[in-house]
Amino acid sequence: MMFPEYRSRRLRRNKNIRRMVRETRLSVDDLVYPLFVVPGSGVKNPIPPMPGIFQFSIDNLVHEIKEIRELNIPAVILFGIPEKKDDMGSEAYAKDGIIQRAIRAIKDKVPDILIITDVCLCEYTTHGHCGVIKDGDVDNDATLDLLAKTALSHVESGSDIVAPSDMMDGRVAAIREILDENGFEHIPIMSYAVKYASSFYGPFRLAAESTPQFGDRHSYQMDPANSQEAIREATLDIEEGADIIMIKPALSYLDIVYMIREITHLPIAAYNVSGEYAMIKAAAKNGWIDGDKVMMESLLSIKRAGADIILTYLAKEAAQLLGRR
Ligand code: PBG
Repeated sequence: MMFPEYRSRRLRRNKNIRRMVRETRLSVDDLVYPLFVVPGSGVKNPIPPMPGIFQFSIDNLVHEIKEIRELNIPAVILFGIPEKKDDMGSEAYAKDGIIQRAIRAIKDKVPDILIITDVCLCEYTTHGHCGVIKDGDVDNDATLDLLAKTALSHVESGSDIVAPSDMMDGRVAAIREILDENGFEHIPIMSYAVKYASSFYGPFRLAAESTPQFGDRHSYQMDPANSQEAIREATLDIEEGADIIMIKPALSYLDIVYMIREITHLPIAAYNVSGEYAMIKAAAKNGWIDGDKVMMESLLSIKRAGADIILTYLAKEAAQLLGRR
């Protein structure tokens, strides 16, 4: 059928028709809110390029999480900044590390929220890389043990889902194995399967104090030019036992989200990263865009591309708006 028999505008005529034929819906159920935990008490440090986002000490973190729970957001993802860093990132897997203590405090005070923990070493190493350094580069196999230990210590402290973000080869299998050996076969792995070496992580690295002290992450994170490689990465992680496949960043990589949706029936998560948040906030502050509308349109586009879960610093504001609709 063609014009003039068919007129597309018939189905756009008014609000109710548009509601009826709408294909994608954003829900608070889709959202995960990232949080940064630091040592000390009474701390709430603003992150200048991420207005509205803070580093919290554990006491304030618990208050914040109560608020998040009240907004009906189902899950948070935690990033820790340790008291002391070292070459091996040992605070990442310390029994009383910052994340381990934070998890226990949240489970104690706000048990009814899902805790996802980011498993990586970059916040914990003096050099700021995501693994152990040998001959000037990150040593893949030596890092696997430490990541597995980190994941296990998170789960022993009460983490509900572990999310490895380091991009070492074989880490999903290593984490699955150690969790299963220790009676945690019921704990899912949300793998940052397709993670690009992106400049959109800049503001996060200030928040997480994880900027590499030499070089960059191009020898382990993916080249932004590649899409076939994304299929290889996702396939490997699925075979190693990942339960949820993440793509990161989100907005410049919606083609990748769409592609991965075609090759798996696992749930897909997309990480709407710090730089994406900073751009919306900066433009909105200048009055150059309508911040709320651009936020909702961006999140909707991530879902439309095929993501089931969106990790986003916008989760609280989006939940507020969704609650009002
Ligand atoms: C840790 C990690 C990073 C992000 C999430 N986990 C940074 C990086 O790889 O340098 C970025 C998140 C964001 O930008 O919001 N490896």
